Amino acid sequence: MSMTVNGVRVSVPDDPRVSLLDLLREGLELPGTKKGCNQGACGACTVLVDGERINSCLTLAIQYEDRDILTVEGLAHEGTLHPLQLAFIEHDGFQCGYCTPGQLCSAVGMLAEFERGVPSAVTAEQRPGELTDDELRERMSGNLCRCGAYIGIREAIHQVWKGTAR
Ligand code: FES
Ligand code: FES
Repeated sequence: MSMTVNGVRVSVPDDPRVSLLDLLREGLELPGTKKGCNQGACGACTVLVDGERINSCLTLAIQYEDRDILTVEGLAHEGTLHPLQLAFIEHDGFQCGYCTPGQLCSAVGMLAEFERGVPSAVTAEQRPGELTDDELRERMSGNLCRCGAYIGIREAIHQVWKGTAR
């Protein structure tokens, strides 16, 4: 069994108990994806599977045979940081940085969801097509930040969304 992680084909362990998070961090030595609660409550372990954001602590590696996994290590392209990474730096979207890889991967997936018109719990109350602060807060509510860097995180995501919105 194998999967692709950040563009590289890798083997999936035979042990069906290994979570995707543990495979990434311990098996593949990609420690960028963080283990916070290890029970689906904090979002620190967020990665993208075929472009969809998931909590990797809640999933088993064997579920993802032949799927494309993207972790924070794969966001930069040929030495150039992803626009969200640059915006997080510009807007002080982090302090200790522990939640940041999950915030970044989640934001990438969230912006793609928003672009596809996937609604959130507050969409009906918001201005259609506009990523309002309430909309952004709701859509990123699965990613906690113990340092409270939420203002900078939202500013950074907003800036990138404005740069890509049609
Ligand atoms: S470590 Fe996965 S949600 Fe907290
Ligand atoms: S920057 Fe420290 S937990 Fe978010």
